[in-house]
Amino acid sequence: MINLDDYKLKTIEEGLTKIQFPEYEKVSSDAPVFYNPQMELNRDISILALQTYQNEQKREINICDLFGGSGIRGVRYKNEIDGVGKVYINDISELANRFEKHNVELNSLEDIEIHQHDASMFLRLNRGEFDVIDIDPFGTPSPFLDSAGYCARRESLLCVTATDTSALCGTYKEPCIRKYNSKPYKSEYCHETGIRILAGFCAMTLSKYAKCIEVLLSHSTEHYMRLYLKIKKGSKRTDETLKNMGYISHCKECLYRETSKGLATSTPDICPECGQKLIQAGPLWLGNIQNKEIYHKND
Ligand SMILES: C[S@@+](CC[C@H](N)C(=O)[O-])C[C@H]1O[C@@H](n2cnc3c(N)ncnc32)[C@H](O)[C@@H]1O
Repeated sequence: MINLDDYKLKTIEEGLTKIQFPEYEKVSSDAPVFYNPQMELNRDISILALQTYQNEQKREINICDLFGGSGIRGVRYKNEIDGVGKVYINDISELANRFEKHNVELNSLEDIEIHQHDASMFLRLNRGEFDVIDIDPFGTPSPFLDSAGYCARRESLLCVTATDTSALCGTYKEPCIRKYNSKPYKSEYCHETGIRILAGFCAMTLSKYAKCIEVLLSHSTEHYMRLYLKIKKGSKRTDETLKNMGYISHCKECLYRETSKGLATSTPDICPECGQKLIQAGPLWLGNIQNKEIYHKND
């Protein structure tokens, strides 16, 4: 039986929400319950994005916070977004669950369920239940995208965080190939390339389930990347969106670059500007990575 009195508690406020968790020395996955103040902006933007989505749906939405930690995200979603029905907060850790429950009570909220499952298992047990699935794990979201693809419903919103930016940006090539099946390249625009590799991997994974993505919003901030994907269904539509997959060829001498759409396409070898050998990155998403129309929907 977990007793909160056994812990020295830290109290913080974010947005309109107050939460408590066990004090820790430094932000790391070794903290008894994870809370990272650096992610406040990520959560603030999430609230705006989810509110925009809810306004567009014109009905109550159910949200799954798949990696709850302290519960800050799910609790803020229920507390600060209009038109939210049920929020499901899941975490594999029993201690995290205990604090999630405590933080729900601290904010006097109802209609929040707390669950303790492996993330993929939780999604599969609740296939088609959620309007929003929020994947905010330690490091890469890659192992969980198959279950998200299998379970996400038509017109739902999939939010994905990745903190393994050294892989996506090409500081470490092999982990990116292993986790995202894509070759990165560390250029001066490697954060955009990283976002495109992540989006491409989501598109390819979801395509197995005849689902496709529209990237509504994406950003690379500090140590993480974040995507907001609208999910659509249909094999023909999915085939069509996969035409957005391709490669970028980059010249490190004169910074010339060009893109080639298609998965089994030919890419240029030699820079047409200076004659140096071009370097390829990909496969990655060459479609839109922002939908500017949604920026003003909350004005
Ligand atoms: C980065 S933290 C979540 C942070 C939280 N979303 C926030 O905004 O503060 C990741 C959480 O995932 C949990 N976790 C790790 N592996 C998991 C798994 N396979 N299934 C579900 N939860 C998991 C950890 O216990 C940890 O609380």
